[in-house]
Amino acid sequence: MSWDAFAPSFDDQPDHGLRDPVVRAAWRAHLLSWLPPAPSRILEVGCGTGSLMLLLDECGHSVVGLDRSSAMLSLARLKSPRSPLIQADASDPPFADGSFDVVLARHVVWALPDPSSALRRWLRLADRLVLIEGRWDTGAGLTADELTSLLSPLDVRVRRLADPALWGHPIEDERYAVLVSGVQSGR
Ligand SMILES: C[S@@+](CC[C@H](N)C(=O)[O-])C[C@H]1O[C@@H](n2cnc3c(N)ncnc32)[C@H](O)[C@@H]1O
Repeated sequence: MSWDAFAPSFDDQPDHGLRDPVVRAAWRAHLLSWLPPAPSRILEVGCGTGSLMLLLDECGHSVVGLDRSSAMLSLARLKSPRSPLIQADASDPPFADGSFDVVLARHVVWALPDPSSALRRWLRLADRLVLIEGRWDTGAGLTADELTSLLSPLDVRVRRLADPALWGHPIEDERYAVLVSGVQSGR
């Protein structure tokens, strides 16, 4: 699937563009609570238009963005000019093992053809994963149980993301973050 066609209007959704200060503050607070103290080295796979990259750069983290869509990357380049961006497949990022402190992915795992293999690869790149996913009312996505089973037998924490401030409106469907940390043996 090509994501290029979604790029021009992608940021119109409150959680994508983070233009509303309340939504932006909610994402900032949640992300910072899951990440190590700044500065940390973060690889954001499937960075899209770069909204989270910019937020984390502003908080003192060093973020590399990776996406396969050139249209998404063009917008990310405009939004977050200081952060390095590369066009590559999120399933196999072209970096050496241990290159990052954290791999961050929001709404990306569900879209990968072989999520289990991608997760294993990410666990070699970093000790910590921050995975934000959902099973949306459209029927797309992954449940938290499905995602945690892909990470078995690792010890993971699941945080439900029901706060309307994150989305700009109340939600009924399943949205969550899965946090994996301290996975030295994954290398
Ligand atoms: C739903 S968007 C999420 C964008 C961003 N993470 C966010 O939350 O604002 C999914 C993104 O993942 C990217 N993507 C999907 N499959 C990919 C792959 N195999 N390799 C790299 N990027 C991919 C798409 O191009 C798109 O930018």
